[in-house]
Amino acid sequence: MLKAAVIGVGSIGQNHARVYREMDGVDLVGVVDSSPQTAARIGARLNVPHYTDYKALIEEQKPDLVSVSVPTSLHFQVGIELIEQGLHVLMEKPITSTVEQGQKLIEAAKKKGIVLAVGHIERFNPAAMELRRRLREGMAGRIYKIHAQRLGPYPSRIQDAGVIIDLASHDIDLMRYLMDDPIIRVYGETLQSINSDREDMVNGLLRFQGGAVGVLDVNWITPTKMRRLTVTGSRGMFDCNLLSQELFFYENETAPSQWDTLSILRGVTEGNVLGIRIQRHEPLAAELGDFVAAVRDGRQPTVTGFDGLETLRLALEFMHSGKDVIIHTETT
Ligand SMILES: NC(=O)c1ccc[n+]([C@@H]2O[C@H](COP(=O)([O-])OP(=O)(O)OC[C@H]3O[C@@H](n4cnc5c(N)ncnc54)[C@H](O)[C@@H]3O)[C@@H](O)[C@H]2O)c1
Repeated sequence: MLKAAVIGVGSIGQNHARVYREMDGVDLVGVVDSSPQTAARIGARLNVPHYTDYKALIEEQKPDLVSVSVPTSLHFQVGIELIEQGLHVLMEKPITSTVEQGQKLIEAAKKKGIVLAVGHIERFNPAAMELRRRLREGMAGRIYKIHAQRLGPYPSRIQDAGVIIDLASHDIDLMRYLMDDPIIRVYGETLQSINSDREDMVNGLLRFQGGAVGVLDVNWITPTKMRRLTVTGSRGMFDCNLLSQELFFYENETAPSQWDTLSILRGVTEGNVLGIRIQRHEPLAAELGDFVAAVRDGRQPTVTGFDGLETLRLALEFMHSGKDVIIHTETT
């Protein structure tokens, strides 16, 4: 039995606690929240001890592994302490607020020989997993474009991060995972209309080393929730709905042959539409299962500290790019 605990049982952390509570081979030994009401409510619901201070939980319950789901600005402060005590850590995304903090967490985890995983949950979405498998098989042919749309209303509880760090980081990580091709350039335009000091919208472009282009369309100014990803290649287009876990393939009838993936696209014609059967599961359960298995087997998790850091680095580049000097002004 591995002993698990969750620090920060708000919106996402309470789900971590529920999943550990139901997981075979894992004993949820307690939950922590600085809000006494939240700690007591989740502790009572799951029938486990609750604390308002994580130091007390560690001292009394001695967990082996911990999910950290406190607000982003506290990730480093809480994470470094747990790692230095030799606990395995699943850090909710983003890994930290700054690249320097992320590097320190990774170095500390390496020194201690513990597992550091980052909660980029979309890698465990069964529709995204199936999409990756089919892209690797070459079903889309040569990939030209990957386009992510993550739109929705503003979650007022998020007070310490803008939409790039909080939401677009999901898509940046997913693009890295699906494309398996280094991102060599990013540029984004941002807009602020709800938050006074952070962006609520980003429209960005990414360039992959192999030549493909990524498009990022992420905001929390839209009155309906959308999580959609399309991948367009020489042989057709995948359309993935990450919310409903659905995947479709729109075939290009005049596609170059399978053996000729680098050839120039000579035409595009509407072909068959294939609905791909997805074995649905809860992404969070798969993510925590992977973390626990990594701890048990002494292996790397699917989303490593390095992945979290690389995604954070790209997210911060998006934030800064929109603030760069204006290179062209129209004169009247
Ligand atoms: N992977 C995902 O899909 C996903 C989804 C939502 C949030 N997140 C991430 O999870 C983190 C939490 O987000 P949320 O939406 O659950 O926020 P939230 O505000 O709902 O929950 C955070 C909880 O942490 C508690 N807390 C604050 N300081 C604490 C401390 N020092 N010790 C213990 N508890 C403390 C708060 O009282 C609150 O209950 C963020 O970093 C966010 O980016 C990830």
